Amino acid sequence: MTHAHFFARRQRLLAQVGDGIALIPTAPEQVRNRDTHHPYRFDSYFWYLTGFPEPEAVLVLAGGRSILFCREKDEEREIWDGFRYGPEAARLAFGFDEAWPITSLEEKLPQLMADRPVLWHALGHDPDWDARIGQALNAVRSQARAGKRPPTAIHDLRQVLDAMRLTKDEAELEIMQRAADIASAGHARAMAACRPGLAEYELEAELTYEFRRRGASAHAYNPIVAGGAHACILHYVENDKLLADGSLVLIDAGCELEGYAADITRTFPVNGRFSAAQKDCYEIVLAAQAAAIAATRPGAGFMAPHDAAVRVLVQGMADLQLLTGSVDGIIESGAYKRFYMHRTGHWLGLDVHDAGEYKSGEDWMPLAPGMVLTVEPGLYIRPGADVPEHLHGIGIRIEDDVIVTPEGCRVYTSAPKTVAEIEEVMAHG
Ligand code: GLY
Ligand code: MN
Ligand code: MN
Repeated sequence: MTHAHFFARRQRLLAQVGDGIALIPTAPEQVRNRDTHHPYRFDSYFWYLTGFPEPEAVLVLAGGRSILFCREKDEEREIWDGFRYGPEAARLAFGFDEAWPITSLEEKLPQLMADRPVLWHALGHDPDWDARIGQALNAVRSQARAGKRPPTAIHDLRQVLDAMRLTKDEAELEIMQRAADIASAGHARAMAACRPGLAEYELEAELTYEFRRRGASAHAYNPIVAGGAHACILHYVENDKLLADGSLVLIDAGCELEGYAADITRTFPVNGRFSAAQKDCYEIVLAAQAAAIAATRPGAGFMAPHDAAVRVLVQGMADLQLLTGSVDGIIESGAYKRFYMHRTGHWLGLDVHDAGEYKSGEDWMPLAPGMVLTVEPGLYIRPGADVPEHLHGIGIRIEDDVIVTPEGCRVYTSAPKTVAEIEEVMAHG
């Protein structure tokens, strides 16, 4: 990603903001405990428009100009905490029209806001910022007798930015492909390392090692490594149990690279060979995923892949004698939700559950080339009196990331997936 990409996005946004003013702060640093911080992660909107990595920074778009407020150079702080651009170097390196010290924001904001009809901001996102903006508006109002007027309308900036972020540009797709390659390699590594008696966190460590070794900054979200029936807990993140011979393990993990998330789930047998029951269930989920992928194409609504997956899963649930009745009847009643209770996908990008509307008016958002989403059907069989015993505790999800193309979609994650591929990787690495 070059600065030209960020510049082009700011120009697009400036065109929408017109003679208004837009404010996009980055994320604050977060204390973890006492004087230790969480690893810093910028705000996704701010990053999308700037590529500027430091905390304590704000982008202001006003009067056709991009203005950055950031920390000043500070030799003492740089000795302890590392490099800071400072406004002048940031302006030159990142192509802003102006850059000022963040300490001057309070004084300059009322001047920048005055006589602009509309303020664009993600209202309600951060109460601190809501308060600061209220103060700046009041500061403009206090100059009424000097003829200054504050904006009379506040528009939600997220609507505009979410629509921009929903369709990825070439530079984003290139990074997301690299993130997917790293995440895929992490999953393959975990499969190759798996054997009965390991702890779930040992597989997590294999993923983390592969992600970091290949330059990804971190996990894009808390990884799930769920042995056996833990796979039936959708957000299981303890990852601290032993992996038992004869059970499956579900791994939902993806790396973050240059701000972009990969999101992959694989489920495989701890001992390297699927049992007959595990294989039956696995093939149903795999077929559901194939149906969902086939339904992912331009013009189809966002829910079309989900509907396609549900139909295959429900037929499978009937075949496994988990449910009785007709496929249409089971879909109609929603009885399948006991074994499949989540949606089949979500937008993917800078955030793992990325920005973007899911509806367009009354209809589900029509898919279009350049949109990126996950396809992640699952089957979760918690033990129950009316469930065949040999299926108790089987939890399976298969998740890949896809780009909508003019012809349909392209699956761009590549971790081993078929029964044969998984058993091969587990047998021979
Ligand atoms: N890992 C989060 C999700 O699959 O949605
Ligand atoms: Mn996932
Ligand atoms: Mn997902």
